[in-house]
Amino acid sequence: MNKMQAAKHEHWSSGFTFLLAAVGSAVGLGNIWRFPYVVAENGGGAFVLIYLAIVVVFGIPLLMSELMIGRKSQKPPLDAMRSFKVSKAQRLWDAVGWSYLLVPMGILTFYSVVAGWTLDYAIGMGIGTFNDLKEGESAQIFADLQASPAKLIFWMTLSVGITVGIVARGLKSGLEQTVKILMPALFAILVILVLYASITGDFVRSFSFMFTPDFSKITPELVLMAAGQAFFSLSLGSGAIMVYGSYLTKDISIPKMAVGVAFADTFVALLAGFAIFPIVFAFGVDHAAGPGLVFVTLPIVFNDMGGIGQVFGLLFFLLLAFAAVTSTISLLEPMVAQLSESGKIKRPRAAIYAGAAFWFVGIFVALSNNILAEVYPLGFIPLFAGMNIEGLINFLAANVFMVLNGMLVAIFVGWAVKRSVTLEEMGLGDSVIFKIWFALVRFVVPVGVSLIFLDVAFGIFQ
Ligand code: PFF
Repeated sequence: MNKMQAAKHEHWSSGFTFLLAAVGSAVGLGNIWRFPYVVAENGGGAFVLIYLAIVVVFGIPLLMSELMIGRKSQKPPLDAMRSFKVSKAQRLWDAVGWSYLLVPMGILTFYSVVAGWTLDYAIGMGIGTFNDLKEGESAQIFADLQASPAKLIFWMTLSVGITVGIVARGLKSGLEQTVKILMPALFAILVILVLYASITGDFVRSFSFMFTPDFSKITPELVLMAAGQAFFSLSLGSGAIMVYGSYLTKDISIPKMAVGVAFADTFVALLAGFAIFPIVFAFGVDHAAGPGLVFVTLPIVFNDMGGIGQVFGLLFFLLLAFAAVTSTISLLEPMVAQLSESGKIKRPRAAIYAGAAFWFVGIFVALSNNILAEVYPLGFIPLFAGMNIEGLINFLAANVFMVLNGMLVAIFVGWAVKRSVTLEEMGLGDSVIFKIWFALVRFVVPVGVSLIFLDVAFGIFQ
């Protein structure tokens, strides 16, 4: 039998399409669902301030590092980490390459479940499920969804199907086409919602809530929460940015792209706050309602608005669903690129196999909301006590390996790769900006992120 030809490594049509895709990856449930409630739970302005600092000091340098590894190697993550032929510890860097393939698959298992909720809510809003809500009914609808294995699995499967369908079509006709349609739509919906919220809601209070820091609220825990949120929100440590970077051509400036992604992601997170807080404050509902802020509190607010509320509700959940899809495709891409470029399987099949693998695990994650809620697979190990399947995968993928990956990549770029290689790839010359970036990835990021990692994983500061 003839050996199959390895798939050719494609390129983005332009720097702008890369930006749409990378911002699409970064902007997701993390910005619109998670950021507002984490801000609310962590005292508002103080959290936002620390978050912004972390994006600048850790986020941008790491985005640049991951983009550089991808672009220089022109290969998917595992091959990319191998291609630099560094003199020491190649085994370790191989392991990091594997981790850049597996972490996104782990994230997909729980991300797709929440993406499924957004589909359920978007359709529910469209057909009027949330009209005429009675006291307590919104919480009940959310609880019923969580309690139903069939519903959770159905919506999760739909989300997986959409993701696989897009990734199977490849870079140009799959990913690019999707982000070209969904990203402008996402932005337009967000602007409409922010305008509406700031005209009808309590904009002034929201502004001071998000931008007046109460310095007494800054604690090590808050810094850690902000760091975790920033990593997740910028899609760091999980293959997406690295593989998207590998589709960049040499004429595009990595530092500019990194700053663009960080800026747009942060801007959208703040806009999401301005879409949600003004109406939440104006309607006097609990703004620190945790994960239920979007799925329980907002339907109540939309309902109280009367007829127009249904339109805004539909727009809001469509926004969430679009944001989720442009992130899930970036999470599946690293594994699919790696499989299809290895020359053993074609892309559509690679997408189906990889999709089936995380869909299967996703079923157990979905069931962790109900029938498997009390099953603790590694409960006998103190560190993992009290973590059910969803909790465990979430903790390992998002808190441990994602952060660890980021730290190791900083060490790789700062210490293992030749300085002349990074110097050339960054295109900044031996300038002050290059030197600052290099010092950040050599010293500040590894030390800072190790502290975060030790705390998140082992709770040393708690
Ligand atoms: N950045 C996405 C969000 O904020 O929802 C989540 C994410 C996407 C994380 C892609 C990691 C990744 F590789």
